[in-house]
Amino acid sequence: MNNKPVVLVTRRLPPAVEDRLRHDYDPRLNDEDRLYTAEELIQRAAGAHAIVPCHTEHLSAEVIAQLPDSVRAIANFSVGVDHVDLAAAKARGIIVTNTPDVLADATAEVAMLLILGAARRASEGERLLRSGQWDSWSPSFMVGTQVTGKRLGIIGMGRVGQVTARRARGFDMTIHYHNRRRLDPNLEAGAMYYEIVEALLPQCDFLAMHCPATPDTRHLLNAQRIGLLPDGAIVVNTARGSIIEEAALIAALQSGKLAAAGLDVYENEPDINPVFSELQNTFLLPHIGSATRETRDAMGFRALDNLDAIIAGREPRDRVA
Ligand code: DGY
Repeated sequence: MNNKPVVLVTRRLPPAVEDRLRHDYDPRLNDEDRLYTAEELIQRAAGAHAIVPCHTEHLSAEVIAQLPDSVRAIANFSVGVDHVDLAAAKARGIIVTNTPDVLADATAEVAMLLILGAARRASEGERLLRSGQWDSWSPSFMVGTQVTGKRLGIIGMGRVGQVTARRARGFDMTIHYHNRRRLDPNLEAGAMYYEIVEALLPQCDFLAMHCPATPDTRHLLNAQRIGLLPDGAIVVNTARGSIIEEAALIAALQSGKLAAAGLDVYENEPDINPVFSELQNTFLLPHIGSATRETRDAMGFRALDNLDAIIAGREPRDRVA
């Protein structure tokens, strides 16, 4: 008889992570990698001790209220937890964990890719080549913004923000940042701290968004704050779409207030605002910040380390509720 704890896994995970799940648990895997409806998720959770979801599953208060009593843990395969109503989980005594630290390198790589891609008009150039329309070269052809030596503003100087700062220093960028708390001087490494966002923005040739999505950070970058950026600034976002007011970003890209934007995340994924694709001055990726083999394995193992601790009655390393 199989007495292993039953674990509902909502999406297909890396093979090594699923192997470990099969070894230690009785997992309900999603071989088709199909997105479950809320009803399916609740049904599939019947008798499960824990759920391992991704950010694609919306564990609202309503869904959490309908989970069976057997569910004791939500061990997220994600660092972001804005898809989970933490208060509702806490109220039901369901422990919630995430996967911090392990995404920092991969996500900072994408932040740099967005900075470079948006500044140097990479998407536009690629489209031109792929459509067979490149027919000439001139000194004024596809002139973009130089990255080297510019000022990079970072909102959210957690792990990803700090790695992005280190990578950007490789391009001789100077780092300016806003964070809830000022970093220790050794982590700051010469970066300039601004206690209020409004003071940071006029200093940014580039602005990289790295803060978590919470009710407090919703539309943190709005029309008024975009107005404080220097003309021709470039905004990149690898965090969550909800932290930027998209209508204001689009208006600034259309008016030329912003030279360009590089986006990996959107308010409504995967049905993004079609205007983003119509604009020439956007460099767009489909939420792939953590999508490397190394990082996806590390996320899975970190989620399972948390799950192992909860099942063993120990305090998990990454508890968020
Ligand atoms: C995260 O871990 O939050 C990434 O956005 C992927 O879900």
